Amino acid sequence: MPVESAVPLFDVKPRPESLRREIERAVLGVLDRGAYILGPEVHGFEAEFARALDFKHVVAVSSGTSALEIALQALGLGAGDEVVLPTFTFIATATAVSVTGAKPVLADVDDETLVMGAKEMKAALTRRTKAVIPVHLFGHPAPMKEILALSRKRRFKVLEDCAQSHLTVADGKTAGSWGDLGAFSFYPSKGLGAAGDAGAISTGSPVLARICRELRNCGRGEGKGYFHVRVGGNARMDEIQAAILRVKLKRMAAWIEARRAVAKRYGQELAGLPLRLPPVGDAKNRPSYALYVMRCEERDALAEHLRGQGVSCGVYYPVPLHLQPAYKFLGYRAGDFPNSERASKTALALPMFPDMSPRQIEQVCRAVRSFFR
Ligand SMILES: Cc1ncc(COP(=O)(O)O)c(C=O)c1O
Repeated sequence: MPVESAVPLFDVKPRPESLRREIERAVLGVLDRGAYILGPEVHGFEAEFARALDFKHVVAVSSGTSALEIALQALGLGAGDEVVLPTFTFIATATAVSVTGAKPVLADVDDETLVMGAKEMKAALTRRTKAVIPVHLFGHPAPMKEILALSRKRRFKVLEDCAQSHLTVADGKTAGSWGDLGAFSFYPSKGLGAAGDAGAISTGSPVLARICRELRNCGRGEGKGYFHVRVGGNARMDEIQAAILRVKLKRMAAWIEARRAVAKRYGQELAGLPLRLPPVGDAKNRPSYALYVMRCEERDALAEHLRGQGVSCGVYYPVPLHLQPAYKFLGYRAGDFPNSERASKTALALPMFPDMSPRQIEQVCRAVRSFFR
């Protein structure tokens, strides 16, 4: 039998060759132009990404983490304020709250979608809740209409964590175009990935957009060299990353469709096995599959089996935030958020990238099936 090559969890190298050459030209263009900070590539990317989201303003920043931090700072959060977010997410969703001085208040996720909905959020609201952060985890849409209705009633702000949800459709609209602000990551393996760290903030408010621009650039008033209107850090997106992202952005919609096609094949090939497959969505709620995360009661044994067969897989996330040593001081205990705790023991991500070949998909599915035989 021929030896099959390993299937990686992600494949972030530029392919095909034509894309590689286009990126090369774009990077060399930046080097030759000599405008390396907040130049035409960053401004061009901001306008083009806003168009892709069908939303008003985009502020390009240095990472998804800095996008979350600046967005929360722009909302004026500080000591004494509370921000509700899911315990089952990447830790940056919470640390961004902590750096403002506000308190992260954790909530469970829905057992089916693994996303915090209005019901879970409601249980965590108090008089001090100033904002909530719905996370469109793994590319699955949070129920934004319900969350916004609750935010109007209870008067809190909404920051969407869109690090994993490029072109996810939530209640008929693009994720990141519902809340007061949205925070995107362009970490290399994301739906749109840079060749390094990069991120962006989306907002419909020109005032919030201006504040975010000031905050990412040492608090400078726009166009003002050494006049600082607020206390801000340096979280600017590199001109080179912006140039790369502009080239890749033209292909983003096709890549997200390709991810959906891979997810569909997985769904067909793995149906009937003792697994819980991720939701498929509908016309108004379309996942973008930043990760393909299924659940299996024998997760660790399955992961070992897959790796033995040359199929990479990943555990997102092995420990929910309320049980992380970093957040022990919040005082939560095991058992507080049962859906998240169960998910952390059973969730397993299969390889997912837009140009997975039918052979690679088949190899993954064969390896999964052979575990249950
Ligand atoms: C849900 C979520 N939020 C925030 C981030 C932070 O993004 P970055 O790695 O670009 O700082 C990530 C990145 O993995 C993420 O998955």
